[in-house]
Amino acid sequence: MLTRRLFLSAAAGLAATGLLRRDAQAAPFRLKPMPARLPLIGAPHPETALWTYNGSLPGPLLRLTQGNRLRVEVVNGLEQETTVHWHGVRLPNAMDGVPDLTQEPIKPGGRFTYEFACEDAGTFWYHPHWGSAEQIGRGLYGVLIVDEKMPPVVDRDIVWALSDLRLNEQAQITEDFRHPMDVSHAGRIGNTALLNGRLAERFALRAGERIRLRLLNMANARIFHLRFEQHRPWLVALDGHPVPPRQLAADEAVVLGPGMRADLILDATGEPGGTYRVLDSDLRGSTYRLVDLAYGPMRARQAANQAPPSALAPNPVPEPDLAGAERLKLALGGGAMGGLAELRVDGRPMGLREAFQQHRVAWALNGVGRPDRPGDHRHGHAPLFSLSRGKSYIFEVENDTAWPHPMHLHGHAFRVLSLDGSPLADRPFRDTVLINPRGKAELAFVADNPGDWMLHCHILEHQAGGMMATVRVA
Ligand code: C2O
Ligand code: CU
Repeated sequence: MLTRRLFLSAAAGLAATGLLRRDAQAAPFRLKPMPARLPLIGAPHPETALWTYNGSLPGPLLRLTQGNRLRVEVVNGLEQETTVHWHGVRLPNAMDGVPDLTQEPIKPGGRFTYEFACEDAGTFWYHPHWGSAEQIGRGLYGVLIVDEKMPPVVDRDIVWALSDLRLNEQAQITEDFRHPMDVSHAGRIGNTALLNGRLAERFALRAGERIRLRLLNMANARIFHLRFEQHRPWLVALDGHPVPPRQLAADEAVVLGPGMRADLILDATGEPGGTYRVLDSDLRGSTYRLVDLAYGPMRARQAANQAPPSALAPNPVPEPDLAGAERLKLALGGGAMGGLAELRVDGRPMGLREAFQQHRVAWALNGVGRPDRPGDHRHGHAPLFSLSRGKSYIFEVENDTAWPHPMHLHGHAFRVLSLDGSPLADRPFRDTVLINPRGKAELAFVADNPGDWMLHCHILEHQAGGMMATVRVA
């Protein structure tokens, strides 16, 4: 399945983080979605035609300190409309970047300025919310880091933006977006996994150093299961929100569905000159090497053992009142082998086959499949849930499908109380949660942010295939 090896030989020597840059905080920033050609694979393959922010893949790293305002002027250099959504950031609804729901889409050549305060520290990202499957799938994504006022002491703070592309033999993106097979099955999984927009061969480390590693999954559909050979990183944050530091078990995988992030503290406990693999496995369990941790000859420091990292300061997310929370059921249905007989599209009951043929809808939330049409929000869709501002809710999610779904809620962070019936000790705050096939989850949150918010699967072909809804908070 993964033909990454096809391209590996030519890719050696590309700097893994070369395209990211750090920008002065609070300065107005310009983002231009635009076509670009980049030498992703390298000679003898031609450059790959992409859609990018400012000509780089991923887009520029936006970075500021917690509590400050981010101001970004977007100038649309594409030949179609777009918006920018700030994934995971709890911000005012008008800045959320959902076309027709929170703003008019930005026309080709048009502009829009996003401005909001970043109240939460953490690892976030930005991407379009217009035709997401294609626009993100062609390379429109970038990282947003909100630094803690007192960041933890590390030797280096590193971003690994993970994604993949579906490339043909000429190293060009295949045009088969929203292919029926992808829509109704596992989504558009690529054949070329990228680290910071490149085929990465090596990540240089020095024995004894401690790095903060920010992992982000920006792929359309690929679920990463990363294992760090002979290393035991500490997990310190999920989706930007701190968790009590926990050292991963030997060989334990960091699982990241599309949209999800994890911050690790990685102590370089390997030997000088050593090489250790970072492995990724797919759904079927087939494994490939994402990158090598390549140790230089020198030690960064003598002391091999560092004290466990201390916890990051919590973000100011309101604490849900679990005892008083109202419980709401959210059923995920549809897809291949799902057994969903009937669903409603535009208020009309129909069979799954008819929904797919007429509306390209293959999925439903609580029996409602929402077609992905430009201007659709304007036509008015009843919100799936209408929540009272300030009240606590528990979503009881049940995945009645044969596929995993990373479910994402805008404008809020929720505590994951349980997965598949097992309570989670730390009840982490997240904005995206991966729900196993036939699995379930309980998500608790305070509906404190007024507006109409998207709730959808972050496998983008699933989202395009009906797996989205709005949640009204008023
Ligand atoms: Cu990453 Cu609805 O978004
Ligand atoms: Cu899905």
